[in-house]
Amino acid sequence: MKIEGARTILTGASGGIGQALARELANHRARLALVGRQEERLASLAKELQAMGCDAIPVIADLTCKNGRDGLVEQMQKQFDGTDILINNAGMSAFCSFVQTDPEVEEQIFRTNVLAPMQLTRAILPGMIEQGAGRIVNIGSTFGSIAFACFTSYSASKFALRGFSEGLRRELDGSGVGVTYIAPRAVNTELNTAAVKQMAERVKMNMDEPSSVAKQIVQVIEKDRKERYLGFPESLFVRLNALFPRLVDSALRNQNRVMQTFTPQHPK
Ligand SMILES: NC(=O)c1ccc[n+]([C@@H]2O[C@H](COP(=O)([O-])OP(=O)(O)OC[C@H]3O[C@@H](n4cnc5c(N)ncnc54)[C@H](OP(=O)(O)O)[C@@H]3O)[C@@H](O)[C@H]2O)c1
Repeated sequence: MKIEGARTILTGASGGIGQALARELANHRARLALVGRQEERLASLAKELQAMGCDAIPVIADLTCKNGRDGLVEQMQKQFDGTDILINNAGMSAFCSFVQTDPEVEEQIFRTNVLAPMQLTRAILPGMIEQGAGRIVNIGSTFGSIAFACFTSYSASKFALRGFSEGLRRELDGSGVGVTYIAPRAVNTELNTAAVKQMAERVKMNMDEPSSVAKQIVQVIEKDRKERYLGFPESLFVRLNALFPRLVDSALRNQNRVMQTFTPQHPK
């Protein structure tokens, strides 16, 4: 997919991966709607990108609300007269044992990571189908293929996003609209609390910088790839878990015990 000139919605543009991705897309001359709830961050990012010559607008929207999604679709139409690329990047996580996870947080995780991307895609798709071209890009996670202890609700949401991506890709086959699912491994952003970062260091979990993840995401979009798991050996473990899940159960057993000791609720 040609990124230059592509009318692009980037959700989660105020976050770690989102800001880096916005800069990378601006370098490739995409036209950008930068979506999130943090007005100041989005305004200052838009200003920075505009100074680079990029056609970028901030769009303040809570994507879990219909009003927020409708307002975004309206602004896209008004500003760019349609959409070529939708990047569903906004997301949230929780690091907590399943039993102690607040059900309201769990609902918010599913609303943000699963329902908002599905509903926003439904709002944008008719225009893409009509123009016979477009790409939906869903930002998943390694945890969407290998579920981890203490990230059970988050993992389940990313499994759902992967399932959505696969079903939609098959449904849209031949329409000219493509679907890409990209799964980064851990990334150094605010999504991961201090406790998660300490745990990651202790269990030697690889953690990428947002700028390198952003570069890889743009390459994947340019190449029209259907699916991509970022990082090695994580991409290999994804295949192994699909074929030999019991083997991965054993491999993760000790790590899971250590991880649990870092959850905020664990007795110290
Ligand atoms: N960091 C990692 O380790 C990692 C690894 C693999 C995959 N991922 C995935 O990568 C994506 C980006 O994560 P990140 O690390 O960049 O996280 P982040 O820094 O915490 O950013 C999260 C972004 O999501 C937006 N967001 C959350 N709820 C929203 C809502 N209701 N409405 C609109 N926007 C909302 C936030 O915007 P506002 O706060 O402005 O609303 C923010 O821009 C997520 O889908 C995440 O699951 C992250």
